[in-house]
Amino acid sequence: MSKDSTLGMRTLAVHAGQTPDPTTGAVATPISTASAYSYGDFDNGERRFCGESPGYVYSRFANPTVAVFEAKMAALEGGESAVGFTSGMSAICSTVMALVSAGDEVIHVGTLYGGTEGVMRNLLPRFGVRSLHVATAAQLQAAITPNTRLIFTETPDNPMLGIVDLQAVAQVAKAAKILTVADNTFATPCLTRPLEWGIDVVVHSATKFIGGHGDATGGVAIGSKVLMEKVRTVGLKQFGGCLSPFEAMMLIRGLKTLPLRVEAASISAERIARLLAAHPAIDRVFYPGLESHAGHAVAKRQMSRFGGLMSFELKGGRAAARTFLDRLALVTQAVSLGDTDSLACHPASTTHSAVAADIRLQYGVTEGLVRLSVGIEDVQDLENDIRQALAAIV
Ligand SMILES: Cc1ncc(COP(=O)(O)O)c(C=O)c1O
Repeated sequence: MSKDSTLGMRTLAVHAGQTPDPTTGAVATPISTASAYSYGDFDNGERRFCGESPGYVYSRFANPTVAVFEAKMAALEGGESAVGFTSGMSAICSTVMALVSAGDEVIHVGTLYGGTEGVMRNLLPRFGVRSLHVATAAQLQAAITPNTRLIFTETPDNPMLGIVDLQAVAQVAKAAKILTVADNTFATPCLTRPLEWGIDVVVHSATKFIGGHGDATGGVAIGSKVLMEKVRTVGLKQFGGCLSPFEAMMLIRGLKTLPLRVEAASISAERIARLLAAHPAIDRVFYPGLESHAGHAVAKRQMSRFGGLMSFELKGGRAAARTFLDRLALVTQAVSLGDTDSLACHPASTTHSAVAADIRLQYGVTEGLVRLSVGIEDVQDLENDIRQALAAIV
């Protein structure tokens, strides 16, 4: 199914990239476990290795089950091509390292997941790549130098739910011939399609909404054929973080219900964010669907709904966060997000604990901050659980 298909997201999520297995007729995608694929004879082997003839060679380079996952992701994001990885961090690191060289500069816009933050601030400089941070797209132009090669952003961001204006980022970058990469893990293609706003490459932690059931780890990069060829050749073949065919099958299965799950989580989250915003134990709620959110106007333009993630700051700081989280009975205390199950965590001591304390505070990751990933349970039950946990601290 081609990327410019006029089919809706729910249809694409089910059908894109797959047909019944030609030999057995199996409707569900088979798990192709072979690590090597016969090319028959000497000449064909040489042609396949130099890319002159099509066909699988070795599972780290490409795999039939992984290829279905990649084709589905390309269709959902509206990209020409995709490359699967063993995790979100593998997708991010391999993509960035495939596109930059020593002497280049990378600018990251807004807040980032702690692991990505570490790549930008600690890893890239070790390889001679300078990294700079700006808070908003409006500050980008002034930060660009002749060495700027790539701009990286994440929207909504983890854990503050900050919104970066993708169109503004893409416009500035294109004028300066700089590549752009957006982490679309929180929004998923169901809510935002960064490539349509002019971004060059989308990356995901497929471990989150894409798998959706908390039982598979993976990542993916999506973009033009030319860029993805580079990402596959350097990022995948050389760094070697290939997605396992078993995980690919789990992610394909997860994708089939992605639009349904994202819509259900968004509807519940929109309700829960209002409950939290009106509660006396809470200082501030960070949810792009609230009119009070700094990025609400941009979110309304670039998102079709506001997603299942939010964070909020409890008035009593760390002690209140501990009491609240320990009192939750239905919502599970765990990192990760985008699962069927609602999950809550304390970013300062978990997901962002490795980020330097001053940078954490600059981002707004205070000791009273709690991140909530709303699942697909009955919203009334979630609200009851949250209310009783909040009652313990006021
Ligand atoms: C926005 C975002 N990007 C990337 C990652 C990393 O993904 P993974 O854990 O699959 O490596 C995470 C993990 O939490 C994340 O939240």
